Amino acid sequence: MITELTLVNFKAFRRITLPLGPLTLLTGLNSSGKSSVLQALAMIRQSYDAGELRGIGQYPESVDGFLLNSELVQLGTAQDVLHEDFARARELEELIGRPTPPYVACLIKQEGTLYGWGATYDSSQPDQDMMAVWMPPETAPIAYNPFQYLHADRITPAVTYPRSHHIAIARGFLGVRGEHTVNYLRHHAEDLVDAPPLWHPRAISPQLLDLANAWMQELCPGVNLQASAIEGTDYVRLSYGFGGTAGISATRRRRPTNVGFGLTYALPVVIACLTARPDSLILLENPEAHLHPRGQSRLAALLSATAATGAQLVVETHSDHVLNGVRLAVKQERLRPERAVVHYFRGNGAGTEVVSPRIDKDGMIEQWPEGFFDEWESSLDQLLD
Ligand SMILES: Nc1ncnc2c1ncn2[C@@H]1O[C@H](COP(=O)(O)OP(=O)(O)OP(=O)(O)O)[C@@H](O)[C@H]1O
Ligand SMILES: [Mg+2]
Repeated sequence: MITELTLVNFKAFRRITLPLGPLTLLTGLNSSGKSSVLQALAMIRQSYDAGELRGIGQYPESVDGFLLNSELVQLGTAQDVLHEDFARARELEELIGRPTPPYVACLIKQEGTLYGWGATYDSSQPDQDMMAVWMPPETAPIAYNPFQYLHADRITPAVTYPRSHHIAIARGFLGVRGEHTVNYLRHHAEDLVDAPPLWHPRAISPQLLDLANAWMQELCPGVNLQASAIEGTDYVRLSYGFGGTAGISATRRRRPTNVGFGLTYALPVVIACLTARPDSLILLENPEAHLHPRGQSRLAALLSATAATGAQLVVETHSDHVLNGVRLAVKQERLRPERAVVHYFRGNGAGTEVVSPRIDKDGMIEQWPEGFFDEWESSLDQLLD
């Protein structure tokens, strides 16, 4: 597990250190840097995936680097990534008596070891989409541990989805938009989910499809999924059945385009959780998108259950229902309080500051920061005034 992340001169941050837990919620204002935190982790992973970051001494002749644009994130150029008001390496400059080039650094503490990467910014080539990393550390577990990253902008209801054996089956990657989820589900429908916290009491078996149905029924009672190949093509299809509850008594199966947005949007999140392993790292942006309030809270129960299996989730959210769902999971002893970490990003006039309210064993927030999910109360006060 990554227990701490430090970013220096990375996008919105001159310097920031964030403790991370099994379940970390990143909350707060728009454009305050929440996604940037996920992007930094994804940048490290995609640099490893592409072979651009290697363990120290493995390829002494090669130049390592941060790959800014690849499968997980497209950050643009080195100039886009370097924090505009970047911090200088003052101590080094004093030591050698001259200015040093601007740099971007990421440090993670993982399984008790500190891994740090520092990349120089070449001001003569601001448009480069690779930043050379000096003295890379030994290969960090983030390079090879199971990994999922779901962007805020995910698959929308569609008639077909891609069928890539290499991505969905060989690598087990759902895609940053969750676009490989349906193919993954088709292939692994009968896999046993070997993690009791994820077993839903109403699932008819601990197989992946049965658990997916049970958790999806938390969002829409009675729904069930079917993922199948379209023979002779490179596509798969998803269909929904409704079991006669929630006021819907349809018998025919329906295509995603005819059942609304929320189910299809949430499916990659549900599958990412159900397929987590104890050493997984799962980055999620806005898992609550398009879900009704109770669904958001129930999804938080699934996120909490996933964190209880030992997997690590870093979740950007704007939803007080997600927060409250996690608080409930803590109160119900499904997740230990120290396993839930909350960061609230807020502007302080000169940039972003982060406060980290703690959830106690009763699910209460120990010190409620001003402006932290208090809009409901604030509106109510005005209504009652
Ligand atoms: N090179 C840079 N130097 C300084 N600030 C930067 C740089 N690149 C991006 N930013 C700032 O970083 C922030 C990016 O925020 P990010 O996308 O992480 O927001 P967010 O908190 O995820 O927002 P949302 O809630 O809307 O998803 C913006 O405020 C942007 O101005
Ligand atoms: Mg964001």
